[in-house]
Amino acid sequence: MEGEIEVKGSKNAALAALSASLLFKNPPKFLNLPEIEDIKRMRELIFSVSSGSEIDEEIAKRFRASILVVGPLLARFGEVRFPHPGGCVIGARPIDVFLEGWRRMGAEVEASGQTGGGNLIYKVTAKNGLRGCDYTFKTMSVTGTEGMMMTAVLAKGNTVLRNCALEPEIKYLADFLNKNGANISGAGASTINVEGKCGKLLEGAEFFVNPPDRIEAGTLAILGALAAKQLTIKNFPALELNAFIDILKEAGAMPAEIPSLRKSRDGISAFTFTQSKNLRAVSVKTAEYPGFATDLQAPFTVLATQANGESLINETIFEGRLAYVGDLNRMGAKITIMDKQRALVTGPTKLYGHALESPDLRAGLAFVIAALIADRESKIGNIYQIDRGYEKIDERLRAVGAQIQRV
Ligand code: EPU
Repeated sequence: MEGEIEVKGSKNAALAALSASLLFKNPPKFLNLPEIEDIKRMRELIFSVSSGSEIDEEIAKRFRASILVVGPLLARFGEVRFPHPGGCVIGARPIDVFLEGWRRMGAEVEASGQTGGGNLIYKVTAKNGLRGCDYTFKTMSVTGTEGMMMTAVLAKGNTVLRNCALEPEIKYLADFLNKNGANISGAGASTINVEGKCGKLLEGAEFFVNPPDRIEAGTLAILGALAAKQLTIKNFPALELNAFIDILKEAGAMPAEIPSLRKSRDGISAFTFTQSKNLRAVSVKTAEYPGFATDLQAPFTVLATQANGESLINETIFEGRLAYVGDLNRMGAKITIMDKQRALVTGPTKLYGHALESPDLRAGLAFVIAALIADRESKIGNIYQIDRGYEKIDERLRAVGAQIQRV
């Protein structure tokens, strides 16, 4: 592969910012949104809101980020009914930290239907409005932090959120809300303070400028290290990928010195990756930001299949995120599942084309990478999952030399 590829706008930052539009009097404007299925679903979900107490259940069930609209709707209308959110099958994905947070702000939560049957419905009401509170997340949660932060913006009084997630998307969201009249401090650190506006909607006219997608960038870097004569990745947000870059360097997949990084002020720059013939095995343990992102775990495992030695992959965030490993083994990889959250990869092994089903969006793109470096043809099914998070990935990869067709 050879040429230039540009990282598109961040899926998860955009999903949070779009849901925040429900806190505004007039819809705000967005720049650099990726053309992906999850963004389309979020727009449909927002347009489906009429009275505020009903959202389209069928749409909400299709993606996890639908939970993000609940806090703003509750804060705005005092009542909301919604199904347990769907999304990637990567673990249990409960919503207890949201429910507990809303209760602490004075809301009542009722649940009906059955857990696991796909028909669990929640009704959250705050008849007397929401009031600020001091709330400590019992589990660090990215969308949990975003959801509570947005709810608190319209509540009465001050809210302190503790043990917040540190992912950069939270700071992007807070900056956007602040530019439009909210008063949030501490976002990006573990304690966030929100001064509530007591139901007064945001009125600013400042755009949300969506940053590049750090996960797409990291995944393309892996592709470059495995299969490129020279692949220049534009808009590479290196400062948000520090832990990942260190691992790539350790694996010999990236040069130790990167001159372009020193020149860029915000850490976003163009990086050129070339195929590395002598990859070394490196063990990784996923962690909350700024650690090694769970969303890069599956693509990294593909790289580990081409590295010399044994790499232990330890997934600590989600308990069901190694399901794709069986398919890589069918392609010729040598990966042993140690337990639900650890896999041992022995490399290098030659990979051969196979018929694959994309289990979730991140593992789906990992399969695309595996298929591109494999001998013979592979057919990947369930590509809706890939389209959920990566814009026209077939066209963009074809433009840099990949042999990939949408059939
Ligand atoms: N958790 C709970 N209770 C909750 C919420 C979360 O126990 O109420 C647990 C989860 O089960 C998990 C851990 O907390 O074990 C962390 O999950 P988190 O809530 O942080 O994940 P999320 O907010 O649902 C976001 C991203 C994911 C990304 C994770 C971790 C969005 C829309 N999604 O999910 O992105 O993997 O943070 O960084 O922002 C993806 O883009 O492919 C994706 C899955």
